[in-house]
Amino acid sequence: MAVQTRLDECLSIRDGRLFIEECEAHALARRFGTPIHVMSEDQLRRNARRYRREFEQRWTDGPVLVLASIKANFALATRWILSQEGLGCDSFGAGELHAALQGGVPPDQISVNGSVKDEDLISAAVRAGARITLDSAAELDLVRKAARALGRRASVRVRVRPDFSALTQPTDWYEEETSIAEAARLYKAGIPTDDVLEVGHRVRSMPEVDLTGVHTHIGRHTNGTAQWPLVIDAYVALLARLRDAWEGWTPGELNLGGGYPVPRDPFGRGMSRLQNRQAGAPDLSVYAEVVTSSLREALQAHGFDARGIRLEIEPGRGIYGNAGIHLATVRNIKAQGSPTPHRWVETDTSDMFLPDVVWEHNRWTPMVANKADTPGDLVADIVGLTCQPDRIVPEALLPEVVPGDSIAFLDTGAYQDGLACNFNALPRPGTVLVHGEQAEWIKRPETVADVFMRDLVPTRLRTLR
Ligand SMILES: Cc1ncc(COP(=O)(O)O)c(C=O)c1O
Repeated sequence: MAVQTRLDECLSIRDGRLFIEECEAHALARRFGTPIHVMSEDQLRRNARRYRREFEQRWTDGPVLVLASIKANFALATRWILSQEGLGCDSFGAGELHAALQGGVPPDQISVNGSVKDEDLISAAVRAGARITLDSAAELDLVRKAARALGRRASVRVRVRPDFSALTQPTDWYEEETSIAEAARLYKAGIPTDDVLEVGHRVRSMPEVDLTGVHTHIGRHTNGTAQWPLVIDAYVALLARLRDAWEGWTPGELNLGGGYPVPRDPFGRGMSRLQNRQAGAPDLSVYAEVVTSSLREALQAHGFDARGIRLEIEPGRGIYGNAGIHLATVRNIKAQGSPTPHRWVETDTSDMFLPDVVWEHNRWTPMVANKADTPGDLVADIVGLTCQPDRIVPEALLPEVVPGDSIAFLDTGAYQDGLACNFNALPRPGTVLVHGEQAEWIKRPETVADVFMRDLVPTRLRTLR
């Protein structure tokens, strides 16, 4: 009988080896080569069902639509899984709209979000029958033009900028302490309130455009729940202003954006300010309770009838994060005794492929996949192969490792592939999907030829004098 320790519903350690579902991680690394991203189909499905369940149970006033944020992972196979689970999506730009449509999302469950949408994108969204979440007053004219040209009705929502100045607690976004209010003030998304009032008046005179809802997204600022009642109060206070200005208009769709943490929550723990923060975020049920009860109370306080309002949420990291791990191989170990002792475990991957080390100051959880229950007694930087410092996990506590060992970085299913770059002309890793004992490519790894595929060298430059 194998000795088994469960890390969560998807990851386990069996006889000292890390498993993702029923697949041994080190064996995946050897079979598919490293570096690779690995996604668990079962975990994605579980996350999708959990988000639906936790919010549907609590928001009984109307329907709930979970719009998984496709920017977090636009591998088409992962999107098909979520489409099968009844999730819609938030998309940004022409590429993500393409991914949504090719990934089986019913068009009326797509929210085309994002700043500076151009004519082509708006026309494609209207043609497809997707919802357009306006980010500026100027976009409304493009919507009307497209709707007229295509002879179709268009459905728009307004992304608003509530007054978040009550959010005085610090955000996790920056190394230096900054309030959430200040971070929100600098964040460009959404239509300034004076303009949004005007948009509402104009849209009501456009027979080919329906104003179906409102949207706000402030993002993941902390892993507690304290931000939510304040966010919702500010949002609903603005909705009341819009209602009063627009002759009693009420939103049919009320979108609260994303920002729910990954359960192990690697966010920000690479910063000295947050490095000792207790690992892990509250259970999703706690967020769902705070969000739905705060919303219900705020709507009531402002005299709205919540019945029939569709609550929309847009989790990105919360849906994909813990469904993915990243696998690398140890290539070399370097240790320096003087002038200061230091040890580096050199791998075949890079923080260029796990860029939230830099963007979000993440601290990934590393595990030596083939020695997963050996206690760590050596401190070393796990580093990547680029010419940058490339400290993927600084000062990791590891067991003795040798070249050929596999290192797994947990919770890398959201954003890492989409943010990766080709620095040092490195081909980006592919993605393998596991399902029980099955494992298959869903995104092939890049080759060096792919990296140079866009290059054009004029003939006159191809000779040396
Ligand atoms: C509009 C919008 N919705 C949802 C998300 C997803 O956020 P998260 O991954 O924090 O849930 C984002 C991410 O930036 C976003 O911009």
